[in-house]
Amino acid sequence: MVALGDISFIIDCMSDRLTSATINLGYYSHNISKICKLVSGEVKVMAVVKANAYGHGIERIAKTAITAGASYLGVVSLGELKRIRNASIHTPVLILNYLDSNSLSEAIKLNSSITVMDEAIVLLIEKEANKQSKNVNVHIKLDTGMHRAGCDPDRLLNLAQKIQAAPHLILEGLFTHFAESEVLDAAFTHQQLKLFNQAIDSLKTIGVNPPLFHCANSAAIINFPETHFTMVRPGLISYGLNPFPKDHPKYTVVAENFRPVLSLKTQVVFIRVIEPGETVGYNRRWQAKRQSRLALLPVGYGDGYRRTPYNAGKVIINGQYVPIVGSVAMDQTVVDITDIQGPVAVGDEVVLIGKQNVVSLTADDLATSYNTVNYEVVTALQDRIDRDYGVKA
Ligand SMILES: Cc1ncc(COP(=O)(O)O)c(C=O)c1O
Repeated sequence: MVALGDISFIIDCMSDRLTSATINLGYYSHNISKICKLVSGEVKVMAVVKANAYGHGIERIAKTAITAGASYLGVVSLGELKRIRNASIHTPVLILNYLDSNSLSEAIKLNSSITVMDEAIVLLIEKEANKQSKNVNVHIKLDTGMHRAGCDPDRLLNLAQKIQAAPHLILEGLFTHFAESEVLDAAFTHQQLKLFNQAIDSLKTIGVNPPLFHCANSAAIINFPETHFTMVRPGLISYGLNPFPKDHPKYTVVAENFRPVLSLKTQVVFIRVIEPGETVGYNRRWQAKRQSRLALLPVGYGDGYRRTPYNAGKVIINGQYVPIVGSVAMDQTVVDITDIQGPVAVGDEVVLIGKQNVVSLTADDLATSYNTVNYEVVTALQDRIDRDYGVKA
């Protein structure tokens, strides 16, 4: 039970930051439908909604994914599974990673499919499934070269046999994950794929043929159709983000077919003028060379808007790029509007990610300036940024 006072507290917290992410569910739906059409008829689509659906909001995205044609959801924790089930979504969910043994009982209660990588977890799942008198779908994660998590190929048959021998376990899938399916040189992806195919064949030699074989992330879905098997696991492209570097021939395929779902906007909250020689922000990292007009924006690294590099990056105001000056603080960012054409006033819209008129800033642009990947730009966005789902395609 939430008391009335609590609700008004939550509403107060959400409404006063003036920085919000607009999530276009119509575009997300479009992207999932595209993926469903791209893979052949029988191939299932698992929408990867981990990390709060890459920052987009797990509940709304998961619901939209199912309506648009996805039939499986991929998460990495019990917490994410709970959010899905609490939103009354009963679609199959796979926890894609190692699951802590303390979380097993609840994951099974919530009908999760569980990833297994070794025999120890098989025994624990069987014990818990037996206690709950339930059957549990499990997927073996095979390490084909990423060398983070997963069963070594030479232990696969043993593990599969242990699963077969466990009365409450159903081996529903075998999967692996690619280390660099987005790069031009396909050699390592081919090597991983070869090991995966060998694993499928070796399972068949002992009469094991689970219905779901899956390994394709976004880049592989687009670039390696031979990796689709019976299910694909898109993350990035479902959010309209590009897995490929700009010089990759498939970059434009994604740019032309998938629509960026998230835009991030704020407002000008204060305008001031400073004199030549005066400095801005912590450690005075930017110094005015001339009389300068500055606008204050209520967004900072506490929202997931990166602090470094200093005196870099830009935003859009009045359909024009405007440079960030000094270092982004926890809650505030200063931009230099001296050269902007036309009037700028408190309350004017500022685009941090997205489009204003014909001018755009993408998560890729931000990632380039931060020397990171677009995944990090969107997943970094914190809960205190309001997600607005109002806009439809
Ligand atoms: C196991 C697994 N499958 C699929 C994906 C989706 O990858 P992408 O966002 O590149 O499509 C991820 C994301 O990291 C993952 O960890």
